[in-house]
Amino acid sequence: MNIPLSKMYVDDKIRQVMLDVLDSGHYIKGQYLEDFEREFARFCNTGFAVGVSSGTSAILLSLMALGIGEGDEVIVPSHTFIATASPSIFLGANPVYADIDPETYTIDPAEIERKISPRTKAIIPVHLYGHTCDMDIINNIAKEHGLYVIEDACQAHGAIYKDRRAGSLGDIACFSFYPAKNMTVLGDGGMATTDNEELAVRIRMLADHGRTEKYLHRLLGLNFRLSELNAAIGMEQLKHLDAWNERRREIAGKYNHLLSDLELITPIEKEWARHVYYMYVIRVKEREGLASYLRQKGIQTGIHYPVPLHRQPCVQSDVHLPITEEYVDHILSLPMHPQLTDTEVEYVASSIREYMENPAC
Ligand SMILES: Cc1ncc(COP(=O)(O)O)c(C=O)c1O
Repeated sequence: MNIPLSKMYVDDKIRQVMLDVLDSGHYIKGQYLEDFEREFARFCNTGFAVGVSSGTSAILLSLMALGIGEGDEVIVPSHTFIATASPSIFLGANPVYADIDPETYTIDPAEIERKISPRTKAIIPVHLYGHTCDMDIINNIAKEHGLYVIEDACQAHGAIYKDRRAGSLGDIACFSFYPAKNMTVLGDGGMATTDNEELAVRIRMLADHGRTEKYLHRLLGLNFRLSELNAAIGMEQLKHLDAWNERRREIAGKYNHLLSDLELITPIEKEWARHVYYMYVIRVKEREGLASYLRQKGIQTGIHYPVPLHRQPCVQSDVHLPITEEYVDHILSLPMHPQLTDTEVEYVASSIREYMENPAC
C-alpha cells in the first residue's frame, strides 16, 4: 500500500478547460475569473468574491483594504500556518498570539478578550483543519471593541457555522486554493469574500496595481491577480466541493469509529459546526513512533503544525501559550482526501491499532 496524506483531483473536464483557456489567447482578467468569482460568492452566500494569487495575498490585501498598518495589533492564533500572521508583520502591524480551545484547536474567544489592547484593530480567527471557530462569540467581542474580523478560511471551503458558510462570517474571509486544499486551482490561488462592496472594490484594486483604468493608479497596489487558467480550474473544482466534503466527512466518521477504543484523541465536531476535514488530526502520546511505523506501512502522515508561530525563528515573541505548546508535540494528521477508499481507511486504522497495541513492533 502507498497512501498519501492528500491527493489532487484531475479529470478530462479539467484537462479540456485548460486547453480551452490556452486556445482563448486571453490569460488574465477575463470571463473565467468573473464566472469563478460569481459562483464562489454564491457558494459562500456573500455579496462579493475577489480572486487573488494565493491565500496569503488574500490576507495581506484584506488587511491593506481595512487600512491596518504601522503599530496596529492583530489578534491571531499561534497554532496555524505562518501566513495567518506574516502579512500583518509585512504591513508593520504586530500579531498578538492567542491560545486555542482545547477541543476544536481553533482560537479561544476568552483569550481574544484577554489580548485586546487600545492598539488592537482586527482579529483573524482560523477555521483550522476545516472546523469553524465559534464566530458568534468572536463577532460579539469584535463589535463591543470596534474590531474588524478577517476569517482565515484557507482550510474551510464549504464548512458551516450554524447555518452559514465559512466565508460569510466576518468582515472579509480569505481562502487558499493551494493544491492540497479541499478544492484547488492546481497551483497557487486564493479568494477574498465579503458583503461589503467598498472593501471588495478596494481589494480588487489593490490586487491589480491600485488601478481603475489601465494607467491610472488611485491606490498604491501590487500584482496579486488570479490567472484565467487557475480560475477555470477552480470553477470545475468548485462543482465537486460539496460531494468531496461529504466524502471527507464519511471518512472521518469511519476513522472515528475504528479508532474509538484506542489511547488517542480523535477530532470533535461541535454541535454548531459542520466540519469539512481539510485535515484529520489525532493526538497521541508516542507520536514519532506511530508516524514512523505508519511510514514503514506505506502510510504518509503530517504534522500541522510542529512549531507554533510564537516560537518561529522569524517571530520575536516570548508569550506562553500552554495548550498550543502542549498539543504541537502530539498532533498527527492522517491521510485524508476524497479519493481514499474504505479499504485504505481500514488499512490506516488497523495499522494504527497494531502499533498502539504493541508499540515495540
Ligand atoms: C490557515 C492558512 N492560512 C493561510 C494560508 C496561506 O495560503 P496560500 O498557501 O494559498 O498562500 C494557508 C495555506 O496554506 C493556511 O492553511
